[in-house]
Amino acid sequence: MITGANKSIGFVSARQLLQKGYYVYLGSRSLENGLNALKELKSEGFTNVEVIQLDVTDQQSVNAARAELGKKTDVLYVLINNTGISGTLPQSALDADISNFKNVFDTNLYGVVSVTQAFLDLLRKSPEPRIVNVSSSVGSLSLQSNPDWQFYHYAKFAVYASSKAALNMYTVTLAYELRDTAFKVNAIDP
Ligand SMILES: NC(=O)c1ccc[n+]([C@@H]2O[C@H](COP(=O)([O-])OP(=O)(O)OC[C@H]3O[C@@H](n4cnc5c(N)ncnc54)[C@H](OP(=O)(O)O)[C@@H]3O)[C@@H](O)[C@H]2O)c1
Repeated sequence: MITGANKSIGFVSARQLLQKGYYVYLGSRSLENGLNALKELKSEGFTNVEVIQLDVTDQQSVNAARAELGKKTDVLYVLINNTGISGTLPQSALDADISNFKNVFDTNLYGVVSVTQAFLDLLRKSPEPRIVNVSSSVGSLSLQSNPDWQFYHYAKFAVYASSKAALNMYTVTLAYELRDTAFKVNAIDP
């Protein structure tokens, strides 16, 4: 199950997992865009793929997606929390609008928490459950504080980077709480 899989990195991840033999559920907040993505993958010859409507910021949509997936399968092997937004630019720590922070955190952090918690029971049925949170190196406290980092003097994207730093910490705490299970929980920078 990949969130935000109707285009870009989520879509390409879907194609790559299909190539590896996975059965893939494309999460898409717009069913229409999801169906277009599905059509494209089917035209490439992939058959083990379906769309599930999923807006990660809408708890009702998350619950409905979980219920729909539960009708299709008893077990989920991999959850890729790919959905992410950058928010409006520019993003200065000095004056970025609070509403910008709230919007971005709603998708990049609360969306991941909500989807992860909703799908955890299906993941637990897998012998090797995997959760992949798509983050970014701009959310790394170590890199952003290191003057030798190649992007140290680049725009720091106060809003987006804060949300990915928070996502990284959620990933660490989630991995810790699942440490005595077969889960592997990772944050990645695509
Ligand atoms: N691109 C990069 O260079 C880069 C670098 C580092 C990290 N990342 C991370 O990689 C991930 C994917 O990035 P991308 O470049 O592929 O982004 P993108 O092209 O903007 O695609 C984002 C995907 O997320 C979906 N989405 C947005 N809000 C959603 C919501 N509320 N519920 C469900 N889906 C939603 C979008 O759906 P719609 O089509 O409906 O908008 C789209 O499918 C993000 O987490 C991003 O932060 C990207």
